[in-house]
Amino acid sequence: MPALSASAPGKIILFGEHSVVYQQPAIAVPVMQVKAKAIATPAIGKPSNSVQVIAPDIEINSTLKTLPLDHAISMAIDITLKELGISNHPAFNLRISSTIPLAAGLGSGAAVSVAIIRVVANFLGHNLSDKVVSDLAFEVEKIHHGTPSGIDNSVVTYAQPVYFIKDQLLETFPIQKPFTIVIGDTGIKSSTAVSVGDVREAWQADPAKYEKYFEACGKIAKQAREHIENGEIEKLGPLMNDNHEWLQEMNVSSQELDDLVQAARDAGAWGAKLSGGGRGGNMIALVDPDASESVADALIKAGAVQTIITKVGE
Ligand code: MEV
Repeated sequence: MPALSASAPGKIILFGEHSVVYQQPAIAVPVMQVKAKAIATPAIGKPSNSVQVIAPDIEINSTLKTLPLDHAISMAIDITLKELGISNHPAFNLRISSTIPLAAGLGSGAAVSVAIIRVVANFLGHNLSDKVVSDLAFEVEKIHHGTPSGIDNSVVTYAQPVYFIKDQLLETFPIQKPFTIVIGDTGIKSSTAVSVGDVREAWQADPAKYEKYFEACGKIAKQAREHIENGEIEKLGPLMNDNHEWLQEMNVSSQELDDLVQAARDAGAWGAKLSGGGRGGNMIALVDPDASESVADALIKAGAVQTIITKVGE
């Protein structure tokens, strides 16, 4: 049995985070510059069914049996074995690594789950469809992110831009003209489960107010899709700015995110917003390709700990 590896990219939400949890449309794209990787190798001489999990980034080097049952890594392995109906398998080592910043809105948790699910299935001689991989990763997300929409596991599994509406068939769509996004990391770790939970509480306390916010964001995502399909890239800028304002209303932005968003706009970005769960993590700016380096520099000067320049639709 040879060593096998699988990987999954990071992601950004272009439009519609949070409102997507409430059945509004959202648009997400993969970020191929960062990825999670899982490698399975045979553990020769070890008793069958033993799995050694090695994840140096999070200081794990232990047997699967000693990891907590609800740990995301254990869950991803167990759920895959269950899906395949395998109760007896040869011993293997599972090495997990990721260049996707943790708890930063870039889909690190979903990407790690997808890489694990794929490699465990492949190692045991099975090839799961993308739909099944995404569905299994969603089960893991549910335990770790409260009430996720399913957009993160979908975009990192298919590694394609997606127009996503919860509980509906996933849609991919053509990108008429590639466009450039600069991603800026506040360096502040933030739990998506907490921000999603807070929005839920606020919605429960004042449903009419929050449903107005969600509908406004859904409308923005719908318009954005039309502009992307028509190649009207600059028109996405104002939509990003509007989306950021609604997210501020939902109380999921932060001073650091607002500062980076403003710095990007001041440096000439066509529009900017937070991306993902918010409160910390990353923001994104839509830029003229020639301005990408100067916007990235401006973000670093304004306090970003890292920037990534990514081209969507290439
Ligand atoms: C997280 O990337 C996006 C959120 O809308 C949560 C979700 O959709 O599951 C904040």
